[in-house]
Order: sequence, then structure tokens, then C-alpha cells
Amino acid sequence: FESLQVNSKKFVVLGTGGTIAGRASQAGDNIGYKAGEVGVDQLLVGIPVPAGVSLQAEQVAQIDSKDMSHAVWQSLLSRVAHHLAKADVDGILITHGTDTLEETAIFLQLALASSGLLSKPVVLTCAMRPATALVPDGPQNMQDALAVLQNLAIGGTSPANMPCSCLQVMAVCAGSVHGAMDVQKLHPYRTDAFSSGDSGPLGFVEEGAVRWVRSTAFNWPSRHIPWTEFAINSIVNTVWPRVDIIMSHAGVVGRMIDLLLADKDLASGHALQGLVIAGTGNGTIHESLEAAIGRAQAAGVDVVRASRCAQGQIVSKAGDGLTDSEGLSPVKARIALQLKLMHRR
Ligand code: SIN
Repeated sequence: FESLQVNSKKFVVLGTGGTIAGRASQAGDNIGYKAGEVGVDQLLVGIPVPAGVSLQAEQVAQIDSKDMSHAVWQSLLSRVAHHLAKADVDGILITHGTDTLEETAIFLQLALASSGLLSKPVVLTCAMRPATALVPDGPQNMQDALAVLQNLAIGGTSPANMPCSCLQVMAVCAGSVHGAMDVQKLHPYRTDAFSSGDSGPLGFVEEGAVRWVRSTAFNWPSRHIPWTEFAINSIVNTVWPRVDIIMSHAGVVGRMIDLLLADKDLASGHALQGLVIAGTGNGTIHESLEAAIGRAQAAGVDVVRASRCAQGQIVSKAGDGLTDSEGLSPVKARIALQLKLMHRR
């Protein structure tokens, strides 16, 4: 699908599936549908394209994002990087399921930050209702996402003077623009399912106009990820290190960690190389896990501490034994640790 307009801004729309591409057997069924059914070119039919913009659509995957895999991420990263590198492409729109959207956003952010390609915007959008809903939310989200791309492409907010001279990868949903660092799905049903927690959204889309309320810069403390040295190919063409998440909760047992450690098949990527502990409150960890965490560290496993809390970030203090995730949620901390371990190879 290629629009016939000859215009000054070109955006590539990459489809990956999700509810936005979902189809139900009965119109109006908002939960009994199959995600990832409608092609990305079809999703664009009837969406008003901003003046001066042309679109090119490409289907990268067609999945329910609960099934997101490292392989799909590798394909997506490779296509995003390919298109961003082209002089005639001004930005990327990715249609994605809501369930793991925040993971894909932080993955693309960390993987692309060092490439120099994120001077152009990358925006994800989604829907909570399938394309066949009586009142679908996907078309409005697509329209809003295109407005954000256009705003950024014409310099609505400048990446100049940013700490790493790059934009945040963004997610547009229900009129809010969220940054990859903070965005999190907080509601399983409402169309306004995403939040940026304490930080708040980067901006809002109101009747096609974008109102920025925060800097769109990617401002990463860089303690975990030496992102300035990443090569896209080293992420695309490799077996990813295995990093698992263990949640600290009432009655948890350290044996789970020992069982993970017992799986030693390094070549397949199955051997445990990293562990994120989703700690309680301020990143505290049940005493039952402590000895097993020590055994994992002794076996060379990198252990990072995140918090189960939906908002805020761990306030570290002298004597904390484990590195904390610097505000990343457990699922995002897992991706950051995987990239760090890849980089170290
Ligand atoms: C998915 O994540 O692919 C299904 C759920 C959704 O998009 O809302």
C-alpha cells in the first residue's frame, strides 16, 4: 500500500498485529476476538492523512502481542533501522498490541538510542477494542499517532541539546503521548489503558493538535546500558541471553531460582544469565530468596532489583546489595539487562 500523494513527509507504518488489528465474529464483541487478523494496509483505509504526508505500509508480524518473541523484536528492529536510515523517510508508526507495547517501546529505545537514527520519531499505537468493534478506538489512535509524527517531523520539538541527541520512542493511546521510559499498561479493559505514572505523559493530542507538556528527550542515566556503543546488527543476529523475572511475594521459595540455575544449555540461550527480582515496595526482597540469589550471583548470573509498585522508583541507600533498575519496571529491566549482557559478549 502506498498513498498516491506526492508530499514532503513520508512515514512508514509497520504492522505487528494486536487488538487494533483484531477481528471478532460478531460486531460489537469487544473481548471475544482474535488479535492480529486485519492487515496494516487495511487499518489505514479511511484514516485521514495529514496534509503534506504520504504513507508506506509494511506487515512485519501479525501476532497477539502476548506472544511477542525475541525473533519478532529482531525483525522489527531491523525494519525500523532500515527505514529510518533512508533519507526520504521522516518517521515510523508501529501498530502493536497493548499487552507488551511498553516492552517493545523500551526495547526499540535502548536498541536504537546509539544508532543516531532516533533524531526521527518512532511512535507506537494500539487499540483496546478490535477493528470490528461498533466503536473502535484504533482509528482515532492511528490518526493521533500520525499527528504526533507530523508534529515531530516538522520540528514541533527539537532533539537538539538532548543528552544523547535523540528522541524518546513514544506510544500514543487515548489522546495521550507517553515516552518509552515511563509508559505502562495499567488497565485491562478501558480504552485509556496506559499511564506514565508519576512522570505523566509527554503530551496530548487534541483535535489533531499536539500539546507537549514534557521534554521528548531520551534521558537515560546510562549506568546499566552503555548504549553509545550498540550496533543494531549485534542485536538482530544473535541468540539473546536468558534473563528471567522472579517476583518476591508472600510464601515465595528460593528453589525457583535454583531450578532456573539447573538449566545449563548455554548454546540454546536457555542457561540463565540474568535475573530481575520484582521486589516488594522499595525493592525489598523476601528473606526466602536471599540465599538462592547469592547462589545465582556466585554462578555468574547478573541480578537486578526492580519494584512491583506501579509508580515511583526505588530509592536506593548505602549498603543495598543489589543494583536497582533505575526506575524501570521489572519487564523493562529485564530487556535492559538482556541488552547489557549482549553488549558484554
Ligand atoms: C495484544 O496485545 O495483542 C492484544 C491486546 C491488545 O492489543 O489490547
